[in-house]
Parts: sequence; structure tokens; C-alpha cells
Amino acid sequence: MSSKATSISPINPQIDDSGHLKHFLTIEGLSKTQLIKLLDAASVFIDTDNEKRREQANLLIGHTVVNLFFEDSTRTRTTFEIAAKRLGAAVINLNPSRMSTRKGETVLDTVRTLEAMDTDIFVVRDSASGTAHLIARHIPPHVHIINAGDGRHAHPTQAMLDMYTIRERKGEISNLTFAIVGDILHSRVARSQIAALKILGAREVRVIAPATLLPTEIERLDVKAFTDVDEGLKDVDVIMMLRLQLERMEGQLIPSTQEYFRCYGLNQARLDRAAPDAVVMHPGPMNRGLEIASDVADSERSLILSQVTNGIAVRMAIMAQLVGIEGLRENGAT
Ligand code: CP
Repeated sequence: MSSKATSISPINPQIDDSGHLKHFLTIEGLSKTQLIKLLDAASVFIDTDNEKRREQANLLIGHTVVNLFFEDSTRTRTTFEIAAKRLGAAVINLNPSRMSTRKGETVLDTVRTLEAMDTDIFVVRDSASGTAHLIARHIPPHVHIINAGDGRHAHPTQAMLDMYTIRERKGEISNLTFAIVGDILHSRVARSQIAALKILGAREVRVIAPATLLPTEIERLDVKAFTDVDEGLKDVDVIMMLRLQLERMEGQLIPSTQEYFRCYGLNQARLDRAAPDAVVMHPGPMNRGLEIASDVADSERSLILSQVTNGIAVRMAIMAQLVGIEGLRENGAT
């Protein structure tokens, strides 16, 4: 357990008064230097040999990580578990359907109870926006909170693994034009991606969706909004598809799923509108034939499985930095 007990900034609750990352709650409020530092640290954890793996397996020995997922997850929860275990932490995965929150215990009392068992890092996903922030405001100073997705608000570790994947495949983000396509209105991923792309200086960020799936605040985000997908995809370098979040929709926002795929689904003809070497991303889970055609999802241009793989290294880097492990070298030691 970290012995540091610094206070946190009232302006940015994820940074302590020494300027260190204490929680990882949102991309907003972080600097370009902080994002680059995390991306560079993640590269230390990629493609390591067995000897480096053994060294890295000491970094979080003695720490306990609790995965507290009140919403479903396949890749985020699993990659956090793999990441924490590769760093040597003890990992507890809680199943919300078997927890005492079902008997009326509040989330904060649940967290305090688990903290009393010496938990160092909580990885939190919830359908309500703001849950990770709420917990971060009420836990003792030595405990770290990572937001693994809160409502429509933010999914910052997804944005970071997306940035890592783009840099790995396409190089400097500042040289690239991006299109984020689909259900922007309900997407915490899109919000975090836009924030990260703006901080990292992307050449241009476009959002493409039917008018009913564009949030009203889009004008404040300094992005170019399109309702015509063929126009919006023209010459882009990176296409970031989004899942249609039918479970979060109140009322009918699209005529039908067939109509949505016909008007907004990414097929080969639409991919041909983008730059000749454009790549395709999707945070998953994807709905084949609804937002993306199978031949595109499985093509050479798709980075979807690289995103999943890179999620492990990026989440290792975030956890290592939260507990104060700085200056990771190529050999994985500090
Ligand atoms: N991208 C993402 O958050 O996927 P999961 O819901 O499977 O974790």
C-alpha cells in the first residue's frame, strides 16, 4: 500500500497537490504531457519477454485491486484483471448480483467495507454518471479509483488504449483526421476519445451521426458534426465506430436497426471514401450488420483486436503510475 497521503485538488480531483495522478476518472483536465507519459509508459509493457515479465510482476506486489463492475463488461474487466495480475497485485472480482448492494447497502458503504480489507485500487464501472468521482471524494488518501466507464459520461482508459493503438499503427496523432461515427449521444467512449484527441492535437475531429444521436452540447466540443456519413468520411485517416446503445435510448431515436445500418453502417463502399490507408476502430462490443459490416470488421484495416490487446499494457501503465511507480525503463523496472 502507498504511504503517501497528499490532498487532492478541488479543481481536478484526479491530481494530488504535488501534481501526481492520484485517480484516473476522466481525460478532461489532464495535460498533453500527462497523456504522453502514460502512453510512453504503456509501451514498456508491450511485447515483453519472460525476463521482463518477471521483473514487472514485482511492481504491484502487496497491492490489492478490486474490480467493482455494476455494469456488464467483457474486455475492460478482463484486461484490468490481467494487467493487475501481470504487475503482481492480488485481484478480487466482485459479482454485483451476489453483493450486499442488493440488500440495500450503498455503493459508498460497499467501498468503505472493501477498503477496510486493505484495498489499494478500485476499478469501478457503473450505469450512473459520476459514480467513480463520488467514490474518489469519499475514500482515504492512499486509495486510488479508476473509472472503467460511468453512464454516458466517460471511459478514460478506453480512450487511452485507443490513442495508444492509433500511435502504434499511424504515428503522430497531430497529423491525422478522425471520424467518430454512430451513437455519439449515449457514448462515454466518444466523450473521452474527443477529449484525448483534442489534448493530443489531432488535426481534425469529426463526429458523424443522425441528428437524433448528436448531443446538444456538441457545438462546445470543437468538432465538425456531420449527419451525412459519406460526406463525413471523406479522406479521414481513422474511423472510430461506436456501438448503437439501444439499452440507453429513451424513445425511438432511429427508424429501425435495418435503416440505421443502411444509412450509417460502415461497409466497404463507405470505407473507400476515407483515405486509402485509413484504419477502422471499434471499442466493442460490436454489433455486426448493425453499425459495422463483418468484412470491414475482419479486414486488414481493422484495429479492433489490437485495441483489446493494447488495453492490457495501457491499464498496467495507469495502475503503475497511480501507485507512484515512475520512470519505467525499457526493461520494465523502475
Ligand atoms: N469497450 C468496452 O468497454 O467493452 P466492455 O464493455 O466489454 O468492457
